[in-house]
Amino acid sequence: MKKLLFGAIVLSFMSACNSDNMSNQNENPANEEVSSADMFKRGCASEEVRQEALKSNAQLRQKFVTLEANTEKFANELKLGKVLADGTVEIPVVVNVLYKTTAENVSDARIAEQIEVLNADFTGINADASKIPAEFQTVSAGDTKVKFRLVNTIRKATSKTSWATNDDMKKASKGGIDATNPSNYLNIWIVGKMTSQGRTILGYATFPESAGLWNDGVAIAAPYFGKTGAASPFNLGRTATHEVGHYLNLRHIWGDASCGNDQVTDTPTQTTANYGKPTYPLYNTCSGVQRSVMFMNYMDYVDDAAMFMFSAGQKARVQSVVASTGARSGLRLY
Ligand code: ARG
Ligand code: ZN
Ligand code: CA
Repeated sequence: MKKLLFGAIVLSFMSACNSDNMSNQNENPANEEVSSADMFKRGCASEEVRQEALKSNAQLRQKFVTLEANTEKFANELKLGKVLADGTVEIPVVVNVLYKTTAENVSDARIAEQIEVLNADFTGINADASKIPAEFQTVSAGDTKVKFRLVNTIRKATSKTSWATNDDMKKASKGGIDATNPSNYLNIWIVGKMTSQGRTILGYATFPESAGLWNDGVAIAAPYFGKTGAASPFNLGRTATHEVGHYLNLRHIWGDASCGNDQVTDTPTQTTANYGKPTYPLYNTCSGVQRSVMFMNYMDYVDDAAMFMFSAGQKARVQSVVASTGARSGLRLY
């Protein structure tokens, strides 16, 4: 099948080349000067050299076929409006609400508010972006070209007061709500309360290697979702920004180890997580090098009001997973 497709592509290129040559020769009879026909022949040589190389190299043929398929996929997404002209990907979101109390049954308005926060933070138009220190403005992501659109909200009453990180909220058989097509939608589960190892947590997310699995998505405890009625100091919707960051392949900025690596070069290596509202500048020393750390990054653990940026390196990781060849390329509006 692949061979057939390849043959068809090669044939169409060769025939196009030949017929163009013929018509050019007919229009331009032999001429001593450098004619446009000659120019065209020189241009066409690349194609001939390519065909020679392809003939004798199966690996090269495979790369060619893959490349054409990816190019076609991208062009199609542009044409269908699944990717906006500036490369922006709009991720469709399904919110699954599991509530015991009316307070936990977060309103549509609050869900809309949360989507607004995600859009502002991921496009860099959040009002507090003005607080980014000058030294980090040069490496600020600005617009990551990822946006979010709510497409459905599913609500279910439950008698459960607290949930664990064992993914029960994502299973109807365990009293939760099954994910809606996780290859194509970002599923967010809201529960009343969540604990991990006996401690209350704000939320947790799956990384892109889980793309499309039944448990793929983000879980957030109701008090930390949205803004209106949420619990200070986590009442600016930044738990979702942080968790969706993980979902789009961002690691904690301290690399989950002492002076760990978050796989992003423009986020300065820092000793550990930061909490509360640190005062800028904050210096950490790792391997004998002292650095001013980017604690105001969404992937640190500071309060919602103290985090207001992604870095350019983080933007590259996010774009890589939502690209037409990335692990989360299925996240498209249909
Ligand atoms: N996974 C982290 C937790 O559960 C979320 C931290 C989010 N930080 C924030 N300021 N909202 O603790
Ligand atoms: Zn985290
Ligand atoms: Ca780093």
